[in-house]
Amino acid sequence: MRYTKYVVLVLVILSLSVPVVLAQDGGEGLTIGFSQIGSESAWRTAFTNAVQAEAAARGINLLFSDAQQEQENQIAAINAWIAQGDVDAIILAPVVTTGWDEVLMEAKDAGIPVVIVDRNVDADPSLYVTRVSSDFVHEGRLAAAWLVQATSGQCNIVELYGTVGSAAAEDRATGFREVIALFPGMQIIRSQTGNFVRTEGKQVMQSFLSAEDPANICAVWAHNDDMAIGAIEAIKEAGLAPGKDILIVSVDAIPDIFDALDAGETNATVELSPYMGGPAFDAVVATLNGEELPKWIPVGGKLYTSRAAYEADRK
Ligand code: AHR
Repeated sequence: MRYTKYVVLVLVILSLSVPVVLAQDGGEGLTIGFSQIGSESAWRTAFTNAVQAEAAARGINLLFSDAQQEQENQIAAINAWIAQGDVDAIILAPVVTTGWDEVLMEAKDAGIPVVIVDRNVDADPSLYVTRVSSDFVHEGRLAAAWLVQATSGQCNIVELYGTVGSAAAEDRATGFREVIALFPGMQIIRSQTGNFVRTEGKQVMQSFLSAEDPANICAVWAHNDDMAIGAIEAIKEAGLAPGKDILIVSVDAIPDIFDALDAGETNATVELSPYMGGPAFDAVVATLNGEELPKWIPVGGKLYTSRAAYEADRK
């Protein structure tokens, strides 16, 4: 009995120094709301599938909400999760950068941690746990650097812009412009949004080809592979050879773009990994267990000009 008070003292000290584990390592048993942008591209669908597969493998109950490209749908989904109090955390892939402060504040006040994935928000970083994403500015720089070397710094470029106001489009545009600004022979002669959608990319490319003398277009810079594939169709229908008469560089590294690379109909793609679910769930578990996280968990990607190079990196 005389040791009892020491045992109690040791237990109290241990309880103060060891964080209480609230979530299993992989997140088993957690309920997490995932607000996804939509299904505008093959990359987005691969990303959704990867997050759902990762949740299933970890025993996480994932509540999936497809916003169909509308920010108001994302805000409504998050508000519903907050009101119902049925989620341990929220993962948000935001369609645009602005307009998130209020709903993030509500989640914070309700004690529900939010992890941002893929695109960025401009909200106060104290309102979310962390952001798991690639460096979109770097992706734009990589695409531009490849085009500079492929054209010896002489090229009239048409740009298929992603969703206006999205971090993926705005940052890729910024990175690309930073690099071509160093080369007086490189200029963007036309730029229009195709909203990351294949059919819209095709329509915009058709309008570029009618507005410009096609011989004056040296290259297409597409903010994603789907729009690049739309551009390939438009270029072929105009009687030109994509990848030869007009060079093409884009982002995502989806399976279809490697078929186009095999056929010599496009020239380069910058990889965007769809496997961000794992690090996002890890971040949820870590924050529920009281760990501090950096505000950005980067996911890397390289530029590829062939399937062989891409596959070699996966061996
Ligand atoms: O936010 C990432 C971008 O969104 C992808 O590059 C594009 O395919 C998707 O629609």
